[in-house]
Amino acid sequence: MLNRIPLVDLKKQYLQIREEINAAIMQVIDETAFVGDPGNRFVGQFETDFAHYIGTKHCIGCANGTDSIEILLRAHGIGPGDEVLVPAMTWISTASAVVSVGATPVFVDIDPIYYTINETLIEQHITASTKAIIPVHFYGNMANMPAIMDIANKHQLIVIEDCAQAHGASINGKKAGTWGQSASFSFYPGKNLGAYGDAGGIVTNSDDIAAHCRMITNHGQAGKHNHQLVGRNSKLDGIQAAILSVKLKYLDAWTEARINNAITYGNLLHGVTTPQTRPNSKHVFHLYVIQVPAREKLLEALKAKNIFAGIHYPVSLPYLPAFASQNYTPAHFPVAYAFQSKIVSLPMYAELSNAEIGQVANVVNEFVKQQQPISAEGAL
Ligand SMILES: Cc1ncc(COP(=O)(O)O)c(C=O)c1O
Repeated sequence: MLNRIPLVDLKKQYLQIREEINAAIMQVIDETAFVGDPGNRFVGQFETDFAHYIGTKHCIGCANGTDSIEILLRAHGIGPGDEVLVPAMTWISTASAVVSVGATPVFVDIDPIYYTINETLIEQHITASTKAIIPVHFYGNMANMPAIMDIANKHQLIVIEDCAQAHGASINGKKAGTWGQSASFSFYPGKNLGAYGDAGGIVTNSDDIAAHCRMITNHGQAGKHNHQLVGRNSKLDGIQAAILSVKLKYLDAWTEARINNAITYGNLLHGVTTPQTRPNSKHVFHLYVIQVPAREKLLEALKAKNIFAGIHYPVSLPYLPAFASQNYTPAHFPVAYAFQSKIVSLPMYAELSNAEIGQVANVVNEFVKQQQPISAEGAL
């Protein structure tokens, strides 16, 4: 039996840094610094380290990358009656967070080459109620932030970047999370920087937004028992913060390994659409997504060889039952609609070896060859 190649292998990464991670966790337990209350030194350290890494003044840890979007929307004053532009193809949180604050997500189709929100379609969706845009740096590829910021400035819209899949990505050396007024990160275990449970973070240069978010995450408190508003409990905990501080030191090296793996895939794969990096930008390959006809059959062929691919995501947001009330047809978002049935996420993680990439590419290439109709000449 061939060795198993999973979509993501968190165990391989853990084994490389096991001593450091175990020591960090033991330190938190030793100090019983479990909850991310103000003053938790592990949370404070990670927030400082991550803000420094991204290049923002503030980082506020929170419970997950869905809460961080919702908390940011609220801190920016977005609520009932407001519309927020989001890409048609993303993880549901980008849009569900908008619904959670009582506002309306307005979908914009994706770019056919880079798969991020199509900036050329944004203006036609802007109405008097539009308040914000949430570009998603999808799969690790940057949305066209220079163009999006121009549109946002022209129409006085707030930009909240969804960086859940793009830790360390950049355009012209300027990182994801520093383009808009604020940005949201997820540290879900499988992310490029992942905790050992759910975790999220907010980054911004605005003192006001940072203070507001901090209050919302901690029951609306400005100080102990000083509840200035009705907030929620969404804190980064000590153990997750300590783990993230260890892992942050390795993030750039892991990202380089992902980029090299993507180059290797690109050199080996034939006859499928491979990911394109936006010019002058750094794609951090959270996912390596190809487009191929007969996608379900390819998944089966890979599985037969003990290779586990994924689909991110099988249905784009406008066509999910959750948004069925809008009655969208394929013509509303033709790129996202066609894309959703062709995509396959191939195994992608820093520790993937060239031999394993070769194994995956062989199965894909063989499959593609078999799918091609035999030409008249070939049939002779
Ligand atoms: C684009 C995007 N936004 C938001 C989220 C939400 O993050 P979390 O799972 O930490 O709530 C995710 C996580 O999958 C994501 O991929």
